[in-house]
Amino acid sequence: MMKSLLNMPVSCVDTPALLVDYAILQRNIQRLQEASDAAEIAVRPHIKAHKTPQVAQMQIQAGAIGVTCAKLGEAEAMAAGGMEDIFIANCLVGPTKMARLVALAKHVPHLSVAVESIESARQMNDAFATAGMVLDVIIEADIGSNRAGVEPDAAVEFAQALQRFPALQLKGVMSYAGRLMYGTRTEDERIECAAEEGRRLSAIAADLRSAGFDIQVVSGGGTPTAGRYQKGCGLTEVRCGTYCLNDHNQVDLGACTTEDIAATVLSTVVSVPTEDRLICDAGAKALDQAVSDVTEGYGWLKGYEGGYVYLINDEHGHIDRKRLQGDLAIGDKVEVYPPRICTCLNLYDYMYVVDSP
Ligand SMILES: Cc1ncc(COP(=O)(O)O)c(C=O)c1O
Repeated sequence: MMKSLLNMPVSCVDTPALLVDYAILQRNIQRLQEASDAAEIAVRPHIKAHKTPQVAQMQIQAGAIGVTCAKLGEAEAMAAGGMEDIFIANCLVGPTKMARLVALAKHVPHLSVAVESIESARQMNDAFATAGMVLDVIIEADIGSNRAGVEPDAAVEFAQALQRFPALQLKGVMSYAGRLMYGTRTEDERIECAAEEGRRLSAIAADLRSAGFDIQVVSGGGTPTAGRYQKGCGLTEVRCGTYCLNDHNQVDLGACTTEDIAATVLSTVVSVPTEDRLICDAGAKALDQAVSDVTEGYGWLKGYEGGYVYLINDEHGHIDRKRLQGDLAIGDKVEVYPPRICTCLNLYDYMYVVDSP
């Protein structure tokens, strides 16, 4: 949820707290939308990074056609927040999920779900057939994540197998080429990666169409390659997620700069025990444990060149005082850029929306 601190001093917030700079958020949303409009590719942002209906509304107002969710719970929250077109880009399995999915479909005019196993397809079909409803499904193919998804050359056979499920309507094909795009470091690599993703996914779509399937949706995209998909690349939509908030991982990948990071963790210096280190109140429970391959440490201090959290305990963040340009005293507040916003934001119930300094 969002709490507005616009026109209010950030100092009134107790720490640790998640801050989101409204102007940067708006600019990031607008930038992807404009690049995608120019490329004639629809935007269906993944909301896993912000998990906030108000941000999703900003994305829809900018021109997004709907949202993508990773989990049923996220989709339920987005539906409650007024989203009318939701794609759940994940494998759903089990009777509890099926009951929730049917309940959700009754409230969402356009709901679609990824499918990549016959077992999940059978469960969704049985649940929707019993409810007298039809569910739109998008085949998940694995073109470069080594995660879930059917192998590209098995997509046609899988689509044919889905024909035995009358309560499922095949609408398209999707993939998340995470390993490909998060392996890029230069602008040329990012542009080529976006093109390669388009080639791989549109080849699968072409196979499916040749086999007689009506493939309307070819869905890909992610943040390192956001805004780099060209007209005619083969994708009908992109599901970039992190791009609206960004994080230090994206900076270290070269995909954006710190000026593009909208989300920071506000933290207070609580101890200055030695000449080497400062302790702040943002530890693992405020910044997240996960460290990416490219980002050193657990968070970087905004406005303090070289300042970073090199070690975390549950409630303590250790800041390297030697590398910090400038000094901080007990009681000072600092903003920390998290390495990875998805898992960091997941630790918070609220984001405080603030003005740019
Ligand atoms: C299926 C799927 N689509 C889209 C995304 C968005 O990726 P990014 O955060 O790089 O924009 C993710 C991220 O994990 C994903 O799993």
